[in-house]
Amino acid sequence: MNERIADSHRVFDRVSQEYDAARPHYPEALYVALESLSGVRLAGATVIDVGAGTGISARGLLDRGARVVAVDRGEGMLARLRARTPCPALLADGNDLPFRTGAADLVTYAQSWHWLDPVRSVAEAVRVTGDGGAVAGWWNSVDPGKADWLAANQVRLAESCPGYIGPVLPGWSMPPIAAAMSDAGLVVAKTWIEWTRSVRLEDFLTDLRSHSYMARMEGDVVAELLARERAELGRVFPDGRVTVPMRVYLAVGRRD
Ligand SMILES: C[S@@+](CC[C@H](N)C(=O)[O-])C[C@H]1O[C@@H](n2cnc3c(N)ncnc32)[C@H](O)[C@@H]1O
Repeated sequence: MNERIADSHRVFDRVSQEYDAARPHYPEALYVALESLSGVRLAGATVIDVGAGTGISARGLLDRGARVVAVDRGEGMLARLRARTPCPALLADGNDLPFRTGAADLVTYAQSWHWLDPVRSVAEAVRVTGDGGAVAGWWNSVDPGKADWLAANQVRLAESCPGYIGPVLPGWSMPPIAAAMSDAGLVVAKTWIEWTRSVRLEDFLTDLRSHSYMARMEGDVVAELLARERAELGRVFPDGRVTVPMRVYLAVGRRD
């Protein structure tokens, strides 16, 4: 496992406040597709949410009636989750889950699987889900193909942030969880869900601040970058409210 992945929980802990304050939720259609592709009805299901972070995905699952256990390696992220998410929360490694075989109906990785070991994580998820169980990974992303201002914003970030990961990088694609699940013997289904986020400009900037590529940068450099984006985006959205084209990629693996 490379160093960038091994210390990711510490990196997110640095920006847990910004993450909690400004990262987007997932649209209703994501949870509908999750139920349909997994064959697991969320109401009453036991779900282990791995890389639960500040609880965005865990709360989405709880709101739909799931019994959620949140797992994360970051103490700071979990502290935010515990403050407003009514579910058990374990400080544990998603590559080595502290659950018995068959303990869950569903293991979820929302915006998190790419920070885990691609083989060990899925093997663990397959072990802890029972026969009718499923494994699901999903990612929210901005969709720069839909708006010139967003494409320009992402290009500026790609040029200024050494660790930038995102849709304007040549050859960029969503993390290969579908291949990993397939290699683990699961039958995989995938879908994309488009949605629109309406957000205050200041919250959009806070969201940018919470990305790992910014969390790894010096504070004064980040402040300059955000001031530049505030000025650029303020010209496009003078009323201070930003309309962001988004899309979610969802991949679900089930036993045959
Ligand atoms: C981008 S956040 C996703 C949070 C949340 N699921 C959401 O939907 O916003 C990724 C999380 O994965 C956690 N993480 C990284 N490596 C992990 C590991 N090996 N086991 C468990 N969690 C891990 C990080 O601490 C971080 O909180």
